[in-house]
Amino acid sequence: MLEAILLVGGQGTRLRPLTISTPKPMLPVAGYACTEHQVALARAAGVSRIVLGTSYRAEVFEDHFGHGENVGVEMIYAVEEEPLGTGGAIRNAAAYLTCGPNDPVVVFNGDVLTGLDIAGLVQKWRDADADVALYLTRVEDPRPYGLVPTDSIGRVQAFLEKPTTPEEIVTDQINAGCYIFKRSVIDSIPTGRTVSVERETFPELLAAGRMVIGVVDDGYWLDLGNPLAFAKGSADLVTGKAPSPLLTGRTGQAIVEPSAKVDPSAKLTGGTYVGHNVVIGANAVVDGSVIFNEVQIAAGAKVTNSIVSTAAHIGDNSLITDTVVAERVFVGANNELQAGARIFPDSRIEGCAIRFSSDKS
Ligand code: GDD
Ligand code: MG
Repeated sequence: MLEAILLVGGQGTRLRPLTISTPKPMLPVAGYACTEHQVALARAAGVSRIVLGTSYRAEVFEDHFGHGENVGVEMIYAVEEEPLGTGGAIRNAAAYLTCGPNDPVVVFNGDVLTGLDIAGLVQKWRDADADVALYLTRVEDPRPYGLVPTDSIGRVQAFLEKPTTPEEIVTDQINAGCYIFKRSVIDSIPTGRTVSVERETFPELLAAGRMVIGVVDDGYWLDLGNPLAFAKGSADLVTGKAPSPLLTGRTGQAIVEPSAKVDPSAKLTGGTYVGHNVVIGANAVVDGSVIFNEVQIAAGAKVTNSIVSTAAHIGDNSLITDTVVAERVFVGANNELQAGARIFPDSRIEGCAIRFSSDKS
């Protein structure tokens, strides 16, 4: 039996206003929460028990997953009264594991979209007799991540979380947010205080000469850290660029829930997701966007690379580009919202052209 810990307790500050009511890992990407995609991936790799390390809005997870009856994996909740950091959360969740000290435990950041071969990573951990195996990916700009240089046989040489000086940018390999831990290593993380696995646990293991390996996988990977990444992740799932066991046979230009009413002249492209009871009017265009349930998009409106949250209204001929529209926002006719605009819940936008840095006119 393989067990996993999913870290889902972060505040998701960069995704406000969407995360005011919903924790980031529970926001829908292509119609399912990121956590649901991850649970399905873990299950496909043979994981049968998952401990969710929760803190911010913990109840949302339990209400949704219960004991895991509908997802085919036993779900258990380790709730932190105060957020304990990534390492503290892993240690706190360990109290609910049943495996032995030398067994592998899969640990996942809750906001990572990937098709990683988890079983393959476990095998590499075994083959190397490692204390920890880290899933690594390569990115153009590694600065917002944990940098993980490795030697010629894949042994991790350093762990540099969110480097601040140019000298620290020693590699384009980053921590992709999934680890295989030997259970006993988790049990050695201090209890009762905040611990960062990236800033404290990994550097300490390396300093102590423990066997930490990095496994670079160049398959699909995305951190759903900000609104545009969130829209991109959803679009990639809908088009099939990002793999998910939940969407097999449904991928294409758009996924539309059967209860949505879409005018035949409307165009849905670029991996758009359209939720339940959405109404889309004549000649509207929705491209690469996430449309939550109960939304109305009126005739001639154009929504591109944006997120429109539950029960929002987009008026006739309005243009919405690279924007987050939160729950129940009313956007009247002929408005323009662009380039990183974030409209908070229940706002009313009329007679408005909001443009940010890309506005050169
Ligand atoms: N339970 C719990 N408690 N979970 C937490 C806490 C906490 O106190 N703090 C963060 N988390 C969860 C978040 O919900 C998220 O799923 C995960 O831990 C990582 O936190 P983020 O806040 O998303 O971190 P990041 O994206 O800046 O950086 C991390 O991920 C990168 C890859 O996406 C680091 O692990 C980097 O090293 C890594 O490159
Ligand atoms: Mg993150």
